[in-house]
Amino acid sequence: MPSFQMSAALLVLLAMLLGGSNAQLSPTFYGSRCPNVTSIVRGVLERAVQSDVRAGAHIIRAHFHDCMVNGCDGSLLLDDDAANSIDSEKNEVPNQSIDYSVVDDIKTALENSCPGVVSCADILALASQIGVSLAGGPNWQVPLGRRDSRTANRAAVLGAIPSPFDNLGQQQSKFRDAGLDDSTDLVALSGAHTFGRARCATFSNRIGTDPNLDPTFSNVLAQVCQGGNNALTNLDSSTPDDFDNNYYTNLQNNRGLLQTDQDLFSSTGASTVAIVNSFAGSQTEFFDAFVQSMIKMGNLSPLTGTNGEIRTNCRRIN
Ligand code: HEM
Repeated sequence: MPSFQMSAALLVLLAMLLGGSNAQLSPTFYGSRCPNVTSIVRGVLERAVQSDVRAGAHIIRAHFHDCMVNGCDGSLLLDDDAANSIDSEKNEVPNQSIDYSVVDDIKTALENSCPGVVSCADILALASQIGVSLAGGPNWQVPLGRRDSRTANRAAVLGAIPSPFDNLGQQQSKFRDAGLDDSTDLVALSGAHTFGRARCATFSNRIGTDPNLDPTFSNVLAQVCQGGNNALTNLDSSTPDDFDNNYYTNLQNNRGLLQTDQDLFSSTGASTVAIVNSFAGSQTEFFDAFVQSMIKMGNLSPLTGTNGEIRTNCRRIN
């Protein structure tokens, strides 16, 4: 082959390789560099769930809140750091009630086995899957290869993360802005509220006032919230710690906890209603859609290739 053709072919190959490494996450990304990544994460998370059943719920919520702001780049996990101009996303209201300690424990275990290899953004994605499956939910292969940001974007948090007081249109536009769809992704991912807890501050405004809140359930919530704004109750009142499709049957029975949950079913004529009904009728359909939407969410603007870094401590840039 003449040398100019050879260099052209090499350039094409190089472009494909570079382009590919930027676009593509893969379940086998760590390969021999950290062959036990999944079992290490599972081991730490199993122990965490034994002492706090909410550990998996905290992680998947953190993954969602991370991906919604500048993509799935671990930016959420950075603490305040004036010297490096980091104004932590954790300080904004939606992020204040997340427990980040399990992420630290997972990172420590991974640094012991494969130092400097596994990103904090990937820890969130992988531990989310494991947390779901430990609670009885679906298994799936998690695409990996995200790198960690060297910046945070606190100013973007409130505009990006849905508030429990948003109406359906506002929830939908936040999903669209992130690159998710406002029907199937919204309904499927909201199904993560099949486990975990919420504070009274996020739903007590509905008690005794919301026509789409079952009166008996409303009375139960009124009792709980005598404990104040920080009193906790189950997001899924029927099977609180199981990852199943009862979240959707609750909505059909006006037993959604957050107004944003209930709106998916109670907004007459909305595209979300039929999807709630089909997930309520088939756990398999819910699980299949949930897996697809989780993979889609995990693919939101990851840093790959030589962008960002692999943090050694998820709370600080290197
Ligand atoms: C669609 C709009 C959503 C809204 C408005 C919303 C809102 C909330 C609120 C207000 C809480 C309770 C927080 C507190 O008491 O401080 C909560 C908890 C939770 N959220 Fe969401 N969320 C949404 C979507 C999601 C998604 C997409 C996921 C994951 C894929 C998720 C996972 C969770 C989990 C697991 C908890 C329980 C956490 C715990 O036990 O500490 N949420 N959410």
